Amino acid sequence: MSDLVVARTRAELAAARAALPSPVAVVMTMGALHAGHAHLIREARSRGESVLVTVFLNPLQFGAGEDLARYPRTLDADLALAAAEGAAVVFAPGPDVVYPDGDPGVRVSAGALGDVLEGASRPGHFDGVLTVVAKLMHLTRADVCLFGQKDAQQLLLVRRMVRDLDLGVDVVAVPTVREADGLAMSSRNRYLSPFDREVALALHRSLSAGEAAAAEGPSAVRRAARDVLRAEPAARVDYLALVDPLTLADVPEHFRGEALLAVAARVGSTRLIDNVPLVIGRAGG
Ligand SMILES: Nc1ncnc2c1ncn2[C@@H]1O[C@H](COP(=O)(O)OP(=O)(O)OP(=O)(O)O)[C@@H](O)[C@H]1O
Ligand SMILES: [Mg+2]
Repeated sequence: MSDLVVARTRAELAAARAALPSPVAVVMTMGALHAGHAHLIREARSRGESVLVTVFLNPLQFGAGEDLARYPRTLDADLALAAAEGAAVVFAPGPDVVYPDGDPGVRVSAGALGDVLEGASRPGHFDGVLTVVAKLMHLTRADVCLFGQKDAQQLLLVRRMVRDLDLGVDVVAVPTVREADGLAMSSRNRYLSPFDREVALALHRSLSAGEAAAAEGPSAVRRAARDVLRAEPAARVDYLALVDPLTLADVPEHFRGEALLAVAARVGSTRLIDNVPLVIGRAGG
């Protein structure tokens, strides 16, 4: 069995962190862990790093009317998964530990990159994400942090924050882990009914269709992806965007090179996101 240490307070975290061999990799999560999170932990282990997993449902990144209250909470299973994957410490604080004075008055601002795509649908979301990521980087004294490509805009903004604010943490990107049928793993997949689960496949099908049209240029990619989504009206599209992966600006028709095709849609009561990196001008993306 493992010697997983569970820390609930700042003092417990500091003691557990002090005992870890360097370098220390941190995998930040909101809990309800799945194979995507497992992959992040395994990746850090394979790099020879001590792994510290944070499980914190961050109220700051949820808007009014979002799913904070019903978000799945599965701490016992999360601890078992973290232990099985070789994590050394799980830091699972409550909001009172992370925000002892209540909602922080001083926050990290994501800037313009936080206002598009996910940020356009979820105002203030990325300020809440970056604020907690910065705090957790400091509290855990992370050497390395691993983030999933599934949340491409989050990954980009964390990289920008580390650079713009000189946080001195290595940020490692991990490719999206998918179910056998292509659905991107997500804690929110637990909300899906069997019917929703079928409908949700349209996101990945749409991205694959876009990818297959990459050789023909941006409008062909957008058309191919949009046609798939139109054929599945039960997936209510929030955005479908083909953007520059560094600026998140829509790529113009003459664009060739690396781009990001990203989608967000509501399926039943669940909001899902997915994306694929592709190379415009190259067959198969
Ligand atoms: N399918 C996946 N493949 C790779 N990384 C993932 C995947 N899903 C989540 N991650 C990464 O795990 C980290 C923690 O994410 P989080 O706890 O929000 O899980 P989640 O599945 O994205 O949940 P939700 O969909 O509810 O936001 C993030 O870096 C995220 O990008
Ligand atoms: Mg997430």
